[in-house]
Amino acid sequence: MKENIVTMKRIVILTGAGVSAESGIRTFRDSDGLWENYRVEDVATYDAWLRDPELVINFYNERYKQVKAAKPNAAHLALKKLEQKYIVDVVTQNVDDLHERAGSSRVLHLHGEITKARSSEYDDLIYPYPEEGLKIGDKCEKGYQLRPHIVWFGEAVPMLVKAANIVEKADIVIIIGTSMVVYPAASLIHYAKRDIPKYYIDPKASNVSGVSNLNIIADKAGTATPKLVDELLENA
Ligand code: OAD
Repeated sequence: MKENIVTMKRIVILTGAGVSAESGIRTFRDSDGLWENYRVEDVATYDAWLRDPELVINFYNERYKQVKAAKPNAAHLALKKLEQKYIVDVVTQNVDDLHERAGSSRVLHLHGEITKARSSEYDDLIYPYPEEGLKIGDKCEKGYQLRPHIVWFGEAVPMLVKAANIVEKADIVIIIGTSMVVYPAASLIHYAKRDIPKYYIDPKASNVSGVSNLNIIADKAGTATPKLVDELLENA
């Protein structure tokens, strides 16, 4: 077993909203610039939180309910299978927990997690998201209001360095369901070694400037991911 781990290749999967689309969670940029009928700046920025915390909390309470009701799809489940023969790291921009529920063991969330709440003053005081939803008046143990454990626009991305270190070590990279327009997440692919195989599964996938060895798979995650996973398992 030890020997196996030494020889196993590393696959890094970079996922975005498109990997969860077939689980019924809407993507951000496929619906006329609105996200679940809201403008991003009204609900997903630190300014929005200061201006109208109740609106922001209600919005994320809805997202929480939606994620709880969703189930992992064929793409999430196929990615778990890769662990039979590879060391697999999933680096996701998604705040849902569908990779974890599909069984993936190493998942890094770049933009936070909807299943958690945290102190609005102490970033390291993190709690499970309340089942009945977050409320104004819910406080951390130091007495500060709880907020969704989400990285909003304009906030730092604390997991970025860790994610870049993971991508640097990859032998294969698979990008799934992201428009690759939100930075710094979109920059991660540039940390991958130039000569390794890379795949980009997304109905709207196209070449990414500066990225070599990129195989474009212009198809849905639920269809293309299981196929690619089977190929990679065969060739491991
Ligand atoms: P986007 O909404 O920008 O892009 C979703 C991508 O998924 C698009 O390229 C679609 O073509 C693709 N897609 C749609 N259906 C698909 C399917 N069935 N299979 C595969 N791909 C499909 O979402 P992200 O790139 O994830 O940030 O957006 C990045 C960030 O912007 C999010 O993490 C979020 C958002 O604002 C924060 O909340 C901080």
